[in-house]
Amino acid sequence: MLPYERPPLSKSLLAGANTLEQALVLAPDWYDRHAVRLHLGRHAVYVDRSRTELVLDDGRSLHYDTLVLATGAKARRLRVPGADLSGVHYLRTATQSLELRQRLRPGKRLVVIGGGFIGLEVAATASTMGVQVCVVEAAAAPMARVVPPEVGRLFAELHRRHGVAVHTHAQVDAIRCEGTHLAVRLQDGRGLDADSVVVGIGVVANDALAVASGLPVDDGILADASGRTEDPRIYAIGDCARFLHPLLGRAVRLEAWQHANQHAEAAACSILGADEAGAHVPWAWSDQYDANLQVTGAPDQWDALVWRGVPSAMAATLFQWFEGHVVGAVSINRAKDARLAARLIARRTSVTPEQLADPAFYPC
Ligand code: APR
Repeated sequence: MLPYERPPLSKSLLAGANTLEQALVLAPDWYDRHAVRLHLGRHAVYVDRSRTELVLDDGRSLHYDTLVLATGAKARRLRVPGADLSGVHYLRTATQSLELRQRLRPGKRLVVIGGGFIGLEVAATASTMGVQVCVVEAAAAPMARVVPPEVGRLFAELHRRHGVAVHTHAQVDAIRCEGTHLAVRLQDGRGLDADSVVVGIGVVANDALAVASGLPVDDGILADASGRTEDPRIYAIGDCARFLHPLLGRAVRLEAWQHANQHAEAAACSILGADEAGAHVPWAWSDQYDANLQVTGAPDQWDALVWRGVPSAMAATLFQWFEGHVVGAVSINRAKDARLAARLIARRTSVTPEQLADPAFYPC
């Protein structure tokens, strides 16, 4: 299968509104026209750094001058009895999305384990298709990895308004097959019946190739903002890389479409010896029903949370403010605020909470 974009897997591809061809990263003839050779269906198993060769699982070796590891991440597996039953799905590949699509028929019951981006996007898509959906989230509010609970709770309510049952503080104990359906048992003893289950409980960096090749790894392959690892011939970019982010001032492993693209550009500039682009403010988005969520920045702490707009109307931004500056923002149907937040973070503009709360305040 040719390289494809992942954002549609939980949205338009899953809903059947788009085809896989529409999700391709590049046109099928692009590779030949640019003398890029694709080895599809092959795994790289080892980097022989002394011989500068990449060893594939069919025994062949590819020589490199520069090697870029863009191995991404894999879905974290649910470890409870019954997690490997048929009918329990993960959503990381187009094949998985297309398989799940076949199961989403009006009136069918779907249990979604994990209320992160994947879980909630699948819940929104399935419920819009007439499926009865139930979300099981371990934390106090959904999407806790990326947004404050204030925003997670608004999205839980949005889903409930669409008929989705959202259980927070809830974990699955076991899944059993009972005749034609699956019985999902929660740790508090409650039971949920389902025709299908989707697990979306996070991802794990694909760094095994780097480990096998002796590169330093710590929940991601250690690199810098341009993807350089400790081996000057090897780069690691995107979801699989951990690097010191110049704007955030700490090491992060970013799981976001925009970051994967920008890290690739930074690496390409570095490899070519061109001027390197400056660091970007992290940014991620999610679409659920008619709510567009944009997450700007990746703060690990803040002094104050400041709302602008009307949260209950799902038209608002929650700014995260720390020592006189914006360090992050979560915008719901307010893309303009997300762009403002990115500028304020990148320029470290001094602002007060009162200014942020003012819907007319758009400096610079
Ligand atoms: N039971 C219930 N919920 C769980 C469990 C569990 N055993 N383990 C984790 N969770 C919850 C977490 O609390 C979190 O809210 O699952 C959610 C996982 O959310 P993410 O980490 O955002 O991962 P996911 O939604 O799977 O997305 C995977 O796809 O869209 C991209 O950027 C996204 O990289 C991310 C990836």
